[in-house]
Amino acid sequence: MNGATIIDGKAFAADLRARVAERAAAFIATSGTTPGLAVVLVGEDPASQVYVRNKAKQTVECGMRSFEHRLSVETSQGDLLDLVHRLNADPAVNGILVQLPLPPQIDEAAVLAAIDPAKDVDGFHVVNTGKLAVGAADAMVPCTPLGCLMMLKHYGGELSGKRALVLGRSNIVGKPMAALLLKESCTVTIAHSRTRDLADECRRAEILVAAVGRPHMVKGDWVAPGATVIDVGINRIPAPEKGEGKTRLVGDVDFDACVGHAGAITPVPGGVGPMTIACLLRNTLVAACDQAGVARPEI
Ligand code: GUN
Repeated sequence: MNGATIIDGKAFAADLRARVAERAAAFIATSGTTPGLAVVLVGEDPASQVYVRNKAKQTVECGMRSFEHRLSVETSQGDLLDLVHRLNADPAVNGILVQLPLPPQIDEAAVLAAIDPAKDVDGFHVVNTGKLAVGAADAMVPCTPLGCLMMLKHYGGELSGKRALVLGRSNIVGKPMAALLLKESCTVTIAHSRTRDLADECRRAEILVAAVGRPHMVKGDWVAPGATVIDVGINRIPAPEKGEGKTRLVGDVDFDACVGHAGAITPVPGGVGPMTIACLLRNTLVAACDQAGVARPEI
């Protein structure tokens, strides 16, 4: 089979950001307050620095305020918690994101638990995890799975009743993705490193979301004809063809092998990646609306 739709995440995310900017402008006009997002980066991990810079730039481009807090890699847990408490209390800050991973001296769970659930634009606080698990409408939903769901709704046709396989069981992607698909009435399977007959599980799926961090793990003959394939993986691998010491980004899905089987598929880069920040901006606006007692906009 040929002719899979290659999902253009860059264009899809640009569209979403434009809608967020439009709704943010309307919110600012009626409420007189500008939504604000605080991003906290501990240490100097190069990939995290790029993300944080992009987040700040796109937040401002959407008409919202960006607050950046860069802390030394030696920051103590107490100092980080103090900052989180100050941001919780700051009325100009509607959303708080603490960039992960954190250095080893810091207890990640304790930091996530300290963020006010109403400002938890990452959706990592257990209050929001619990709300998502029970299908509450006012959950803050983690950005990457939310972006995947938006793409699936657009490109995957009717979701209700479909067999969905989520490959990976992380708190950031796999588990919330499964909860979202279940809420859409999919029949959801979560596969992971201990799953037996993984290829067979994948072949049964009409929707396949790969989020394991293993380059090119999903092979062409694992994909059912016409399945919608969403690749969350961002793996850097050596690329000697580009020159000595060069690398390139690849997904968890062997794109070239799978594109002939899938009905629609996301590339890496340019698929899910751009959607994460766009959804973060959406969540920041939603948090500002919740805090102002204004109905959430449909975005
Ligand atoms: N590190 C990589 N992805 C994410 C994310 O979505 N949120 C946070 N806080 N850290 C990350």
